[in-house]
Amino acid sequence: MNYMILSVDTGIDDALAIAYALGQKTYRLLGITVSYGMAPLEKTYRNTRHLLNLMGHPEVPVYPGSSAPLQGIRTYNGDFHGMDGAANLLGEPAWEERPPEHMKSSVAFIHESIERYGRDLTLVTTGPLTDLARLLNLYPSQCRALGQVISMGGALTCPGNSSPVAEANIKADVAASKAVLEAGLPLTLIGLDVTRKTLLTWEEIQTWKNMGTAAGSFYCDLLTFYLNEYRRFYPYLQGCALHDPLAVAAACCPQIFTMLPFHLTVCTDGPVIGRITENLMADHGGTEETMVALKVDSHAFKSMFTEMMSYVLGGFA
Ligand code: BDR
Ligand code: CA
Repeated sequence: MNYMILSVDTGIDDALAIAYALGQKTYRLLGITVSYGMAPLEKTYRNTRHLLNLMGHPEVPVYPGSSAPLQGIRTYNGDFHGMDGAANLLGEPAWEERPPEHMKSSVAFIHESIERYGRDLTLVTTGPLTDLARLLNLYPSQCRALGQVISMGGALTCPGNSSPVAEANIKADVAASKAVLEAGLPLTLIGLDVTRKTLLTWEEIQTWKNMGTAAGSFYCDLLTFYLNEYRRFYPYLQGCALHDPLAVAAACCPQIFTMLPFHLTVCTDGPVIGRITENLMADHGGTEETMVALKVDSHAFKSMFTEMMSYVLGGFA
């Protein structure tokens, strides 16, 4: 059996990744860990729980993680995801929707899962790498016992989205990203090189609205906001990028990607802060290389993705 933990910062395309992962048959989703990212932690946590309830899976455990990067602070402007990370549809979380005090942390949950499932465990991250860096700091050797880590992040051969050179998840916490990229983990990066090649269109989300389910209607509203933001920032693209679900696809159908191995690091200051690049200091004999997806069969992914979304948003029928 293969087991998956999804580590998110929900976020509209994280919402897609959650739905896509929920429907997968080749993995058992053990739980979801949530950090700050597209919105503050109390909102990303609430968004995640809200989506699971809507899709009829309230039993999936959600664990709160970091509320800020390792260094510095995070500010929010509401671009792409809304100020609440949910297209401004959910607003401020009520007190009872916030992460309960004394709840098991994301780091503790991932650590326990590694101890239990070892190489059968896949960790898919679709937000900043802060929680994973904290885990590495506490349990460096156990982390290397994971089956694989797949992270949506980086832009190796193309421009960034958070700056002209940097991708948002990597740039959100450059100290954490550097620690993760240089740790010798069995790591795969699904970056903008491929996620900007898999686009969802206006026509495709209309079918969700017409399903007559609360989940279909909510997802259509989320994506309407996201598509409008894409139109505002990237009018030349014919849709919105499926960043985060593509990272889940790398676990479930790796054969649709062309990957190359690199020793990577990240620039942590200066004009190209957040850019990932070849690590010239790497010990090429010793450390494991990161596999970077440079091509994807977007047609194959889109057809699997749209079929899965119809199944999940239609009530798993
Ligand atoms: C990443 O940043 C966020 O906007 C998305 O949720 C995705 O994880 C893309 O750069
Ligand atoms: Ca995300």
